[in-house]
Amino acid sequence: RHVAARISVIGTGYLGATHAACMAELGYEVLGMDVDAEKIAALASGRVPFYEPGLEELLAKHVADGRLRFTTSYSEVAEFHADVHFICVNTPQRRGEYAADLRYVDAVIDGLAPHLDQPTVIAGKSTVPAGTAARLTERVAELAPAGTAVELAWNPEFLREGYAIGDTLRPDRLVLGVASPGARTASDAGNSSRAEAVLREVYKPLTDAGVPLIVTDLATAELVKVAANAFLSTKISFINAMAEVCEAAGGDVMKLAEALAHDARIGGKFLVPGLGFGGGCLPKDIRAFMARAGELGVDQALAFLKEVDEINMRRRVRLVDLAREQCDGSFLGKRVAVWGAAFKPDSDDVRDSPALNVAASILLQGAQVTVYDPKANDNAAKLFPTLAYAESALAAARGAHVILHLTEWLEFREVDPREVGEVVSRRHIVDGRNALSAERWHEAGWTYRALGRPVVG
Ligand code: UDX
Repeated sequence: RHVAARISVIGTGYLGATHAACMAELGYEVLGMDVDAEKIAALASGRVPFYEPGLEELLAKHVADGRLRFTTSYSEVAEFHADVHFICVNTPQRRGEYAADLRYVDAVIDGLAPHLDQPTVIAGKSTVPAGTAARLTERVAELAPAGTAVELAWNPEFLREGYAIGDTLRPDRLVLGVASPGARTASDAGNSSRAEAVLREVYKPLTDAGVPLIVTDLATAELVKVAANAFLSTKISFINAMAEVCEAAGGDVMKLAEALAHDARIGGKFLVPGLGFGGGCLPKDIRAFMARAGELGVDQALAFLKEVDEINMRRRVRLVDLAREQCDGSFLGKRVAVWGAAFKPDSDDVRDSPALNVAASILLQGAQVTVYDPKANDNAAKLFPTLAYAESALAAARGAHVILHLTEWLEFREVDPREVGEVVSRRHIVDGRNALSAERWHEAGWTYRALGRPVVG
């Protein structure tokens, strides 16, 4: 049989469900496992319990052709005799702390390892603090009947929500952290470097198509992921810091960003000013990175990330201030429409969503707030049941004193400002994502405000 033909994916959230479906697409036989029986029942019937473009089609296709199956049982995963077990569980921020909560990763090792009585590879994909893989390696050796013949590797995942399939099948790069880097092919792999050889084989369809694969030690692989997220967060907060300065100096941060982007060394990606970053990754990853640096005695090296985080959180406060200005200085008795609830467009994910954070804060200050998101209304209502929700952008805008555009769905760019102008109390709009056309809204009689830009109208 092919060196790597069977793959298990443990943890079937955004990352795991996508990884499982994509591995099936590459031709492998895949078993997905999760402790959440409801999630597994949905996936097994070809349904994806969250919104990710194209994923349900891909998953349903491979459930139907039998290449992709699901289970809630570790012993079934073990009996499947996978060549690689991918760990795809989440590593959230600990309550009241910066550090990552590793309980789910630990639970996978404790659940799986006691069943492993044959040589195999465990590849962690979850984002973890440097040193985790080394610690888990010892745990696996202790628990697995096959002992050190079960090898642990770290293979961080860089996918973005909204582009999950493309990012998995055509990633910018693959990073493979192993205990003993060096085995280039399955045939020259001794027992100690089986992990590298097997994972090279798994990803061969991608590397054959030109995707670079970088093999590192375990700690470096863990660090690449958090370093990438630290850099991306810094880039966003840099341009948002410039937005603060632009507002004070009377400049336009959109023009500034456009001009900076022409410098190839800077580049325009992740340089869009606005309400800043949220979601299940960037905020908690930079905090966990700081916490780990502190434990390692190099907290000074990452002190700048504290600033990055603070600049980011200040954007939310500034947005609320702008909205209040548009409501004559007080939210009491005012109606506020919020367009967007997901942390970014093409997702229904509301984890640490800047849009909802702003909406909730305005509600607390006495306004009546109505939210509309094309996909995330239901998830938002679970988290913030006291906010009102509408079924369309127009319905949310009815009677509003100000509209806040906080998640840049394409749908909001296509709205006709004249039509919306007919239903609001006052034609005031605050664009938290610098994504609407200021001219178009101004021409339709609106006052357009945005972060880091002069008033239009
Ligand atoms: C991110 C990383 O991009 C990905 O590589 C990693 O694996 C997980 O975290 P994701 O959280 O899906 O992915 O979203 P991303 O597209 O990176 O956006 C993150 C946040 O930054 C969003 O809230 C977005 O609105 C914001 N953002 C992004 C900006 O404010 N400005 C930008 O220029 C880009």
